[in-house]
Amino acid sequence: MRPVAAEERIPLARPLLGEAEERAVLEVLRSGRLSLGPALPAFERAFAARLGVAHASAVSSGTAGLHLALRAAGVTDGDEVVTSPFSFVASANAVLFERARPVFADVDPLTLNIDPDCAAAAITERTRALLPVHVFGYPADVPALEVHGLPIVEDACEALGAVHSDGTPVGARGHLAVFAFYANKQLTTGEGGMVISRDASIKQRIDSERNQGRAPDMEWLDHDRLGFNYRLSELACALGGAQLQRLDQMLAERARVAARYREALAGIEGLELPCPDRGGARRSWFVFVVALPRGADRDAVIAALRAQGIASKPYLPAIHLMSLYRERFGHREGEFPVCEDVASRSLALPFFPGLSEGQVARVAEALRAALGR
Ligand SMILES: Cc1ncc(COP(=O)(O)O)c(C=O)c1O
Repeated sequence: MRPVAAEERIPLARPLLGEAEERAVLEVLRSGRLSLGPALPAFERAFAARLGVAHASAVSSGTAGLHLALRAAGVTDGDEVVTSPFSFVASANAVLFERARPVFADVDPLTLNIDPDCAAAAITERTRALLPVHVFGYPADVPALEVHGLPIVEDACEALGAVHSDGTPVGARGHLAVFAFYANKQLTTGEGGMVISRDASIKQRIDSERNQGRAPDMEWLDHDRLGFNYRLSELACALGGAQLQRLDQMLAERARVAARYREALAGIEGLELPCPDRGGARRSWFVFVVALPRGADRDAVIAALRAQGIASKPYLPAIHLMSLYRERFGHREGEFPVCEDVASRSLALPFFPGLSEGQVARVAEALRAALGR
């Protein structure tokens, strides 16, 4: 088989960056002010305005944001946090940072988000917070979790631009919510994140804790609480501000690519595609993850795609079955059957704005052939 030429390879993800981003970053470089300057509050204000929320705090990653949001929700030693096992590991790890316990609840087989009935069954008197994840950009059923009256921290890292069925943007329901800006996200700052909070005192706490515990009115090197270095640089904030201005364009382009995939992959027997929007909810397209037909050899499919220069990845593995979680909490196969079934069959295909119709067709054809359909 001939080797695949570099220009024919299709990566999993690629950010959409242009001259506006270059100008914004250059301006910061030329200003000489690389941290804690004007780009930070400008990015935060623009982001909050876009979402229609009162407060936003930029941080160095989604993981850092989840950590600070859980602290702001009062999660501490020995508490339980009910969350999804079908997520990127950071959502559960952030609970461990505070020596609390992630209590997993199985997911809905269509949306792949936490099943509200399973979440309700997992609540105990030690539950301090609920941590739903809007996985793959599909809005989790947060309204169904609100009935418990517990603090909610939304992991919206994959869901910038998604909308709940009542029209509320994901992250704007008045709970602590966290977005992430890693390079594969709908909006990127390279690395970065944003924490949404309802009131000024919570924002103040988060802003202080991201900056080593320094209150805004305190002098340099004076600190009145435990904090971290979770700051986002001026370069990243400027990049984020420029990306925010083209967010609608990027979201629309992602939706177009998803629609092309849906057409190209239609009719492959046993292949499950991401669930369509239901009941007025709107997904923000982050990845295009399919579930392979039962019995298909996923490793062989990945190898067959790779031979044609097409990247793909199992996505996501079940968190409770990772060795850290098995060893620390004694988790075993069979505990969360819906999650485990999806995790064992899931495959992320190349997905990013700018993926051409021809490339989508190539991926679909290669997948069809690899599955022998
Ligand atoms: C669901 C989810 N939670 C948390 C994170 C963590 O974000 P970051 O990689 O910016 O720390 C990510 C991003 O990768 C994610 O997809």
